[in-house]
Amino acid sequence: MKIKTQISSKNTQLLCGFVLENSNKILGLKKFDTKTTSTINQTLQDMEGKLGKISVIPVPGGKQAQRILLAGIGKKENITNDTIRFVSGKIALKARELKLKEFSVITPPTFVIDQNSSVSQIIEGTKMALYKFDKFKSEKTENSPDLTIITSKSKKILQTIKTAEIVADGAIFTKSIANLPPNECTPTTLANFAKTISKNSKMKCNIISKSELEKKGFGGIIAVGKGSKNEPKLIVLEHSQGPKNEKPIVLVGKAVTFDTGGISLKPGANMDEMKFDKCGGCTVLGIMKAVSELKLPINVVGIIPSVENMPGGEAYRPGDIIKLFNGKTAEILNTDAEGRLILADALAYGEKHYSPKAIIDFATLTGACIVALGTNVAAIVSNDDKLTKKINDSSKKTTEAVWELPLNQDYMDMVKSEVADIKNIGIGKAAGTITAAAFLRNAINKTPWLHVDIAGVAWTQIATKEKSYNPKGATGFGVRLILDYLQNLKN
Ligand code: BES
Ligand code: ZN
Ligand code: ZN
Repeated sequence: MKIKTQISSKNTQLLCGFVLENSNKILGLKKFDTKTTSTINQTLQDMEGKLGKISVIPVPGGKQAQRILLAGIGKKENITNDTIRFVSGKIALKARELKLKEFSVITPPTFVIDQNSSVSQIIEGTKMALYKFDKFKSEKTENSPDLTIITSKSKKILQTIKTAEIVADGAIFTKSIANLPPNECTPTTLANFAKTISKNSKMKCNIISKSELEKKGFGGIIAVGKGSKNEPKLIVLEHSQGPKNEKPIVLVGKAVTFDTGGISLKPGANMDEMKFDKCGGCTVLGIMKAVSELKLPINVVGIIPSVENMPGGEAYRPGDIIKLFNGKTAEILNTDAEGRLILADALAYGEKHYSPKAIIDFATLTGACIVALGTNVAAIVSNDDKLTKKINDSSKKTTEAVWELPLNQDYMDMVKSEVADIKNIGIGKAAGTITAAAFLRNAINKTPWLHVDIAGVAWTQIATKEKSYNPKGATGFGVRLILDYLQNLKN
């Protein structure tokens, strides 16, 4: 789909405008003939501008537009970025349903929401809603109509459009690789995606192979990868567009291309969903792709430990004691708690190799996270209040919801082992998300670090709140959040 802007609408198949609750007008709509105006007025009365309601009326012989779409956005005081985003998604899906080639959306006036925000959200909502995972469908019938945004034209708006398109494409890229089935997406496949991204940009890409990982002491990644024929990889992408001696932000993402649980095998029900155990890594890849396209004048490094957790004859076992990259020993008590092992290696590598300003990691780490927070909010755990505040600010702007969980010495003590330095599970079912984070905390010395457990939010599950821009499957959670954080680092 293409996106363009116009100051006023002409000859569009579908002209869409937003409507406030109980309002008697479509926001920003220019005058129509008397007959159309009376139909509009009747429809306005019927729909009452209720949030998420959509009505389409025909305009026979209309020159400005063939149809008008009224989209309810509810009460003015309740409108957020997400309102415009998800209503825009609904509009786009309606345009697709009507099999249109193009449609136009009028930005609401500034007393409702500022122009740049609404333009961004219209683009994010539209693009993300129109994405569909149909790579393996023989019949690809879904069309993606082009979008014209009716708005004032300024340099700033054009820049906003460019940025919003790159951000939305980043999230869509993350969804599209996260949705791939496990037989079509191994650690090598992910490494190839990273190489492709780097070829199209100024980024450096380094893939650390199994033999090098062994030599360099990545004991966690090696152990988890042992049960599978598909070899583990450590994927590193460097975006270096900031001052030479400026410390980078390091982003780490768990990419278990399939998590069977290993020897501590998972039950069969819904095991297919464990193809999404690579979502953290896919999020980092989507962010890096967008960071390079946005040409952000900063240094960012993406580190993605990727393995397949399988119960093969060579697989690591409960009872094993392994040595992690930072030299600490870990007692394995459950091979299904594999994410923290590969992340611990990657975090320690990131800290040692890059002395970063901050490290942020993403992982579908614990089922306990879904018990604690459900499927619409991600858990965050951090050792740094300033970093947490920044992420909370970006979370509010992007509506990618996060909630902080505590991490004190008592939790750290819960992952101490009798026979090794640490153990890879806590005590019973108590605070599973925090004990996983406590394990990760052992990999970090002093660097400000923030961990995001995306187990509940990385893909749509039964309890997931339906959103037009999150069709079934991977959601790309974290891409918009971190791109907002990175774009605001300097100001
Ligand atoms: N990938 C899973 C966590 C997960 C489960 C994410 C369900 C999303 C939905 C992780 O590797 C895992 O299996 N964790 C175990 C840890 C336990 C053995 C301490 C869990 O959560 O059960
Ligand atoms: Zn697991
Ligand atoms: Zn896992």
